[in-house]
Amino acid sequence: MTLPWIIKYRPKSLNDVENQDDVKQELKRWIESWLSGKPENKALLLYGPPGTGKTTLAQALAHDYGLELLEMNASDSRNLEAIKNIAQRAAVSGSLFGTKGKLIFLDEVDGINARQDMGAIPAIAELVQKTRYPVLLAANDPWDPSLRELRNLAKLVEVKKLGKYALRKILGKICTSEKLQCDDDALDEIIEISDGDARYAINLLEATAEGFKKVTVESVKEFARRKESELDPFETVRGVFWAKYAWQAKNAVTSSQVDYDLLMKWFSENIPVQYDNMEDVYRAYDALAKASIFLSRAKTSSWDMLSYTFDMMGPGVAMAEIEKQNPGWKPKWRKYQFPQTIQLLSKSKSNREIRDKIVSKIAGKIHSSEEKTLNDVYPLFLQFYKKYEDKLSKDMDLSPDEINFLNEISGKSQGAEEEKEETTYSKASATSKRYYSSGGRRYTTRKKKS
Ligand SMILES: Nc1ncnc2c1ncn2[C@@H]1O[C@H](COP(=O)(O)OP(=O)(O)O)[C@@H](O)[C@H]1O
Ligand SMILES: [Mg+2]
Repeated sequence: MTLPWIIKYRPKSLNDVENQDDVKQELKRWIESWLSGKPENKALLLYGPPGTGKTTLAQALAHDYGLELLEMNASDSRNLEAIKNIAQRAAVSGSLFGTKGKLIFLDEVDGINARQDMGAIPAIAELVQKTRYPVLLAANDPWDPSLRELRNLAKLVEVKKLGKYALRKILGKICTSEKLQCDDDALDEIIEISDGDARYAINLLEATAEGFKKVTVESVKEFARRKESELDPFETVRGVFWAKYAWQAKNAVTSSQVDYDLLMKWFSENIPVQYDNMEDVYRAYDALAKASIFLSRAKTSSWDMLSYTFDMMGPGVAMAEIEKQNPGWKPKWRKYQFPQTIQLLSKSKSNREIRDKIVSKIAGKIHSSEEKTLNDVYPLFLQFYKKYEDKLSKDMDLSPDEINFLNEISGKSQGAEEEKEETTYSKASATSKRYYSSGGRRYTTRKKKS
């Protein structure tokens, strides 16, 4: 079995951890105070950006002092019971199995969803107060309001971003040990892109080495570009609309790293942007509605259903355009839009209220639920509205407020609108990295696929 390099090259001992000297000192002093029987602090909270060695430091500390590590990832709600259990038993000395000294390590405490996993944070707080064993906590962002109690109970220790020199040493060691040909400027490029995140740097090195054999600046750039585009909803949407064959469309959705629910919104927004023929639009929404059904089944009963979701969201939406069957077909360039539901509704509460009123009017006319209308019919309605504004306004008995709102979001007031779209786009891409790639949680959803 081949281990991913971030595991294979994870330092075993504190001595091999690069940088972080202050943190190492702090950890040693703390654990020695425990071993001497007079602990300074019951708990320490390591915090800092991803890929800087928090998890590694905890494991290395246990290793160096011969402690048994009771490690749990707190952001995984499946561990909730285990955390509560440990919290209770750790209050009584000698009650945790075995005779060896122990270090309790709760990783990623900022990943706890305080509302969904009710009781997790109080359980940890209780653990910290009653424990007879050292408790180490780790978080990327310790300033989350839900962590206030833990911040007060634990001593905060900052783990800083890794410097270029440290990253260079980490990557250099791997290149030597893997007998890789790594160009110096290629390593510089990796270090630049990684911005102090060793996990990212090592993964990028491994991926580049695997895909291109030689690690050169060009291969690194090419790989990083591909990775970025997987995080970019604009790219996924384009990949599907521009697919001539079903497999291309399927590829575009399966390789995308954008959250599924969000992808649905992106397609919903952009189907009428891409397709001109109303029948194509209809077929594409039909496929999307099916994708939505499979997705909710996937979430509630079986993740196998995801494959059907992909079939509908990818090939289903892509093949809705009948023109594609003509040999001379070429993809049409369109300027995709950030989903209005996110974009506009965040602007003001009253917009949301107006939209809901319109949806409720439509739902009444077609005898359907408001939720279904909002997802399946409303986007189509907006398209028709562009063409049949007067008739629809009268038939639907729309108020001036509602008409204004519809004109704004269906892009009828062109001209000034052009400029606005531009900002929409750049805002979207500016947020996209944070929004779509915010660390492990997005990947957590994705992993359930397999
Ligand atoms: N300071 C460091 N020295 C050496 N390797 C490191 C360091 N920080 C991170 N790494 C490498 O990056 C990988 C991810 O680090 P990890 O400790 O999991 O980061 P964090 O928990 O802070 O997100 C580790 O497996 C290790 O290979
Ligand atoms: Mg970690």
